[in-house]
Amino acid sequence: MDGMTFILFGATGDLAKRKIYPAIYNLFLDDKLPRAFAVFGTGRREMSDEDFRAHVEQSVKTFSRRWDDDRDRAGQFLRMFHYCAMDVTQPQDYGKLAQRIRQREQDGKIPENRIYSLSVAPELFGVIASHISNSELGSATGWKRLIIEKPFGHDLRSAQELNRSLRQFFDEEEIFRIDHYLGKPMVQNLEVLEFANPILRTLWNNQHIANVQITASETVGVEERAGYYDKAGAIRDMFQNHLLQLLMMTAMQMPRQFSAREIRNEKIKVVKALRPLRREDVAKHVVRGQYGSGWINGKPAVAYRDEPGVDRESNTDTFVAARLWIDNEMWSGVPFYIRTGKRMQEKSTRIVIEFKNPLRESYPVHVNPAPNLLVIHVNPHEGVSFQLNSKHPGKDSRVEPITMEFAANANDVPEAYELLLYDALRGDSTFFAHWEEVEWCWKWVQPILDAFSDQQVPLHLYEAGTQGPEAAFRLLEEDGFSWWELN
Ligand code: BG6
Repeated sequence: MDGMTFILFGATGDLAKRKIYPAIYNLFLDDKLPRAFAVFGTGRREMSDEDFRAHVEQSVKTFSRRWDDDRDRAGQFLRMFHYCAMDVTQPQDYGKLAQRIRQREQDGKIPENRIYSLSVAPELFGVIASHISNSELGSATGWKRLIIEKPFGHDLRSAQELNRSLRQFFDEEEIFRIDHYLGKPMVQNLEVLEFANPILRTLWNNQHIANVQITASETVGVEERAGYYDKAGAIRDMFQNHLLQLLMMTAMQMPRQFSAREIRNEKIKVVKALRPLRREDVAKHVVRGQYGSGWINGKPAVAYRDEPGVDRESNTDTFVAARLWIDNEMWSGVPFYIRTGKRMQEKSTRIVIEFKNPLRESYPVHVNPAPNLLVIHVNPHEGVSFQLNSKHPGKDSRVEPITMEFAANANDVPEAYELLLYDALRGDSTFFAHWEEVEWCWKWVQPILDAFSDQQVPLHLYEAGTQGPEAAFRLLEEDGFSWWELN
C-alpha cells in the first residue's frame, strides 16, 4: 500500500474517539497500515502532540475491541499521531497545517498522498474542501481522497447542492461517503451469501420469495442529539441511507464482476426500479410513529416530546415502516417491508427473507408447515439462520420449525469503521455510498418528506419498549403477512 497521511478534521469529537482511533489502532495491530504513515488531528482546541497522543490512547483503551499492553507497541502506534490546532473557516490556518504535514512527510519519507477525513458538522464540508484545494495543501504531488460522514444533505435539493460544492474540488472517485451500515461484516457478506451459494442464488427471486423484511430497531432514544434529530427524524437518520442501502444490497442482481463499479451499477438499478410513491399515496404505504413514555429493560423512559432539547409539540418521526415494490423482472410482486425505530423493545438489525409456502395446501390443516426463513443477523450479533420444517421424533411426530444457525464469534468480528477505513486507505470504494445512489435514494424519499412535513401522514404514538405502532402490523396484514419477531 502507498504511504500516506491521514488528516482528521474534528479530532477531539465523539466519532473520532469512539470509532476512528479504535479503528486505526486495530488496523495497526493487524499490520494493515502502510509502512510510511502519519495521522494529523485538527481541532479548535490548543493541544500539544503529547496531549493529543494521550487523548488517542485513552480513546482506544476505552473503545477498542482489543488493547495490547506492550508499552513499545503502544508507543509505536501513538508516535504516528500529530496535532494541529486550527479554525477550519480561516484560510491561513490551512497553510500552517500544510507546513506541518510537509515537514512530517520529509522526515518520514512519506509520499504526498493525503486522505482528508471530515468528522465535523456537514455545513463545514464545502468550506473545508474549498480551503484544502485553494491552500498549499492543494498543491501536493500525490493523490488525495476525502472521507465524509452522513448526513449527505437534508433533502434532495440540499444533497445536490452539497455534492455540487464538493465536486468543484474533488472528483467522485476521490470522495468516500461513509454509510457505516455498509461496513458491517454481515452486510458485506450479503453478496457472498446471495451469489456464492447456488441454492440461494437459484431461489433469490419472485418465484420463490414471498416477502423481504428489513428491521433496524434500537432501544436508545434521541440521547443528546435532539438538535440534529428533531429536524431529521428516522426517515433521514436511518431510512434514506442505511436501510435503503440494505435494500439495495439484498435485491441487487449478480454483478458481471465483483468490482466497485459493477456492484454499484447493480445497486443503482434496484433503487431506480423502486416504484415511485406519489405524495398522496404515502399514507397507504408508510407508517410514521413517535415514541411515548414506557419502560426499557426495566427502566422508565420518557416520551420523545419530553426529551431534553425536543420541541414539546414535535411531530418528528422516531419510527418509520414502509412497503416498497421493486418493479423489475426479478422482484415484481414481492413486497419489501422496512421498519426502523428508536426506543423499541430490542436492539436488532436483521434481514428476513420469507420464502413462499406452496406446500401449505398439500398438508393436513393441523400440520400447517411454516415458511422457510433465511435470517441475516446484522447487529448486535452477526450470523445467519435458516428455518426449516422437521418432524419431531417425540411429540407424536409433529411437524415443527427448526433453525439451523451460524453465529460469528464476536471476538473475531471487526468494527465497521475498521473495514471501511482500510478500504479507504486502499482506495476501494465498493462499500461506500456513491453519489448516484445517494441521489436516487433522496429522490425516492422526497415525497415522504413532503407528506410528513404537510402532516398528510398520521403520527402514531407508540409506547417505549414495544415493537412500534399497531399500524405497522396492519401494513403487513393487508398483504397476508406479519413481521417475524424471532425473539
Ligand atoms: C446512526 C444514526 O447513523 O446509526 C443513529 O445517526 C443510530 O441515530 C445509529 O443510532 C445506529 O447504528 P448501529 O450501528 O448502532 O445500528
